[in-house]
Amino acid sequence: MKRLNDFRLQLGRHELVPLMTGGMGVDISTSDLALEAARLGGVGHISDAMVKTVTDRRYKTKFVKAKQAQYRHTMDSMDKSEVKFDLGHLAEATRLHVESTMNRKQGPGLVFINCMEKLTMNGPKDTLQVRLSSALDAGIDGITLAAGLHLGSFALIEQHPRFRDAQLGIIVSSLRALQLFLKKNSRLNRLPDYVVVEGPLAGGHLGFGMDWAQYDLATIVSEIQTWLREQGLAIPLIPAGGIFTGSDAVRFLDSGAAAVQVATRFTVTNECGLPPDVKQEYFKAREEEIEVNEISPTGYPMRMLKSSPGIGDGIRPNCEAYGYLLDAQGRCAYIDAYNREVQAHPEAKRVSVMDKTCLCTQMRNFAIWTCGQSTARLKDTTRQRPDGSYQLLTAEHVFRDYQYSVNDEIALPDGDFVPAA
Ligand SMILES: Cc1cc2nc3c(=O)[nH]c(=O)nc-3n(C[C@H](O)[C@H](O)[C@H](O)COP(=O)(O)O)c2cc1C
Repeated sequence: MKRLNDFRLQLGRHELVPLMTGGMGVDISTSDLALEAARLGGVGHISDAMVKTVTDRRYKTKFVKAKQAQYRHTMDSMDKSEVKFDLGHLAEATRLHVESTMNRKQGPGLVFINCMEKLTMNGPKDTLQVRLSSALDAGIDGITLAAGLHLGSFALIEQHPRFRDAQLGIIVSSLRALQLFLKKNSRLNRLPDYVVVEGPLAGGHLGFGMDWAQYDLATIVSEIQTWLREQGLAIPLIPAGGIFTGSDAVRFLDSGAAAVQVATRFTVTNECGLPPDVKQEYFKAREEEIEVNEISPTGYPMRMLKSSPGIGDGIRPNCEAYGYLLDAQGRCAYIDAYNREVQAHPEAKRVSVMDKTCLCTQMRNFAIWTCGQSTARLKDTTRQRPDGSYQLLTAEHVFRDYQYSVNDEIALPDGDFVPAA
């Protein structure tokens, strides 16, 4: 019976355990989590989502305060077009985040950064260029360009000395998206080193419409595989979304995938950045408590727990401090929704906004509990203590379980409590 560990992922000169932990913003896939995956021989992702906030929290910088002070005068205005990111600060924050992670790296694996291109930051091109170049400058092993793919992003770094040596990958959810990306980039003579194919059961934003349930990961992977073969292209494919056991992974690896990307099972590990009480919510979640909705201002559907405290929370837009979702014109769908509610309820001290959420603030506060569809199965991966709480896992335990398990089995951790006599 095959195990995931019987396969290897070849990326450049690196031979890796074919398991990637996916990027989870904002600092849910922490450096500690990514470093564990790398130590154990796989690939771990950190995320550059809201990087200034992350470095402020982790490394005591003051980037958010500085931006907030600079734009204090726009706080009462709904026009945020002048709220721009200081590119020098952005570069510094990215460098700090990446360098501090890479300095601690041990073992044979790699650490990549997940770069969500839908963080348009009121200057999509300039800010993306800074994010990508600074991560490369700071020694990241690779960059995964996440859904919301900017077709021209490879060109933004083509002059970078590491453009051809760092691992560069993309996430797509359809053959069409891959075809568009390859066509647009053909002049660069540089293919992606890997393609993550993310299906409809993943966490975070989805690369599908609200008809996501009609799609199936294995079918999309197989379509892409066939097309690549016809084109004579050998790009490693890495399926993601709902791969819950080592055996799920082996089924993909057996049919030609190069590796798998997983995330949900790591959300309940010690190393994951979610607060401990939120991890318990993930454990407790039942299938009917998970929904895909359209409250993200990005316009992409997003999966989350219905009980997320950020849903409906009508806080004042906080773009002076954050503003990561402002588009090239300085607009965000939440600002419009908030404004509409304030105008409709002029007397209200606090409005409720149901159709959109202030995603920057809510993700920063861990108040939108985005999750994969298989979150409902997390309770089966651990032990429940006599007080009803669930025992957290270590990233090593979950990694090893993917690596060695057979027959769709899930290894439980040793209990951390004394069972009742
Ligand atoms: C809590 C959470 C946050 C996520 N955030 C991001 C993100 O910021 N960027 C991204 O590209 N994918 C994100 N994802 C998707 C994962 O990286 C991954 O591809 C996917 O969830 C894998 O499926 P699984 O969770 O069923 O294992 C997130 C997933 C989860 C569970």
